[in-house]
Amino acid sequence: MRKPFIVGNWKMHKFLSDAVETAVRLRKLCSGVTHCDIAIAPVFVHLKVVGDRLEGSNIFLAAQNCSTEMKHAAHTGEVAASMLKDVGVSYVIIGHSERRQYYAETDEMINKKVKAALYSGLNVILCVGETLSERDDGQLFDVVRRQLKHGLEGLSRNDIAKVSIAYEPVWAIGTGRTATPEQAQQMHEFIRGYLGETHGEDVAERVRILYGGSVKPENVSGLLSQRDIDGALVGGASLDADTFFGIISYEI
Ligand code: 13P
Repeated sequence: MRKPFIVGNWKMHKFLSDAVETAVRLRKLCSGVTHCDIAIAPVFVHLKVVGDRLEGSNIFLAAQNCSTEMKHAAHTGEVAASMLKDVGVSYVIIGHSERRQYYAETDEMINKKVKAALYSGLNVILCVGETLSERDDGQLFDVVRRQLKHGLEGLSRNDIAKVSIAYEPVWAIGTGRTATPEQAQQMHEFIRGYLGETHGEDVAERVRILYGGSVKPENVSGLLSQRDIDGALVGGASLDADTFFGIISYEI
């Protein structure tokens, strides 16, 4: 069975004091939680301090990005995956639509980041998802297939075991417009089917596929009750510890 996974992506929000306060509150709220894995992803400069406050807890530390480059070298402004691992990070979000859209990340770059993260011992959360116009044009499955094909290129069956996929339809991110559980399930089933074809049914059955896009305490249960939805990647509703805990405490 796949253990559900709920991840809070704090994006470029919070000052350090607020990040620490939220993490400490969340730690307290989540202390008895065993039904799902939990992670939070603060900005780079908060990782170490927040991570220290989470030490010994059941909350994993995640990063929002990493460099394409594995070797420590002259790459001003970049952070290597191995450096994230070194400060206690367990997961890294790669290929978020905001990075694809605003920072021109290509599928090729994303594949390099995925490999750099895996080879540094991190687990990967690879984001995929179509824009509204791609959906309206009926290209949603082609787009997601392309993102998966390139993003996961060259990965072995063992590598894939350390990857979760996050399906985040771009039109549902930060818009309050969630995909219906049926729309999300349809894409999650497609993604699992694709992984089955490329890496084998047994691998596909083990990979966690998260949904992201306006997930809230009110809609999480409907989404997570779907067969192929194994968790959530939460933006806005993860910024407040109590609201995020409302998502973690979903009922099915
Ligand atoms: P929202 O939950 O704010 O829509 O953001 C989703 C997201 O992009 C998580 O990575």
